[in-house]
Amino acid sequence: MNTIEAIYARKSVRKFKDEVVPKEDILKMLEAATQAPSPKHQQNWNFVVVTNRELINKMADIVTASHERLGEIAKTEKDRKIHMSVIKYYTCFRNAQAVVIVYGSEYKMIEYKILKENNASKEVLDMLVSAQSAAQGIGAAVENFLLAATEMGYGTCYMTGPTHAKAELEELIGFEKPGFELMSMIALGVSEDETPAKPPRKSLEDVVTFID
Ligand SMILES: Cc1cc2nc3c(=O)[nH]c(=O)nc-3n(C[C@H](O)[C@H](O)[C@H](O)COP(=O)(O)O)c2cc1C
Repeated sequence: MNTIEAIYARKSVRKFKDEVVPKEDILKMLEAATQAPSPKHQQNWNFVVVTNRELINKMADIVTASHERLGEIAKTEKDRKIHMSVIKYYTCFRNAQAVVIVYGSEYKMIEYKILKENNASKEVLDMLVSAQSAAQGIGAAVENFLLAATEMGYGTCYMTGPTHAKAELEELIGFEKPGFELMSMIALGVSEDETPAKPPRKSLEDVVTFID
């Protein structure tokens, strides 16, 4: 499978077989992830791989409880139902063989530091960070991981939905590296035989503008 084929073959998989993903395969995907570009090559990512079934189940329970608590904010039963209807998308890592928790740290922008020390306005400082470079680099790394997994025959789902429970998840996982916080998760496993096709894309006409 070449790169373009992997790009087209990748889709979000939310149902997995009960089959182990060997550690050396996960390491290959992580190697691919770390080949991604990152702002000023700061490589501000860190990956924690959870394969412990009990821990994965606990994580899913934490996300469910957090989502239910948030649902209590909704004033009507109808809104609460709509809120709860997405829970399956936030806990679909429950039956994955591995969950890769992606931690990220701040992108240290040298200009930001200088301008801040020189009393730049909040407007200027906000403009500097508006590209959210740290998150963009992490997204690039995750996509590399997903493509490598696809090429190796595995199913994946990129997830940020569960991050509403990030404080509790961070506490459960107990990974501590100064300045790093939980940004996203990747559900990884051997796909069920029948999983939904990837949804259609917007046409290029809708999303592309050439300026010649
Ligand atoms: C940043 C990001 C966060 C996402 N979070 C979730 C999530 O929490 N749960 C989920 O089931 N899918 C999640 N997805 C997957 C999208 O729903 C999926 O990519 C989209 O519907 C297109 O489908 P495809 O991946 O099969 O092409 C996320 C994707 C991205 C890029």
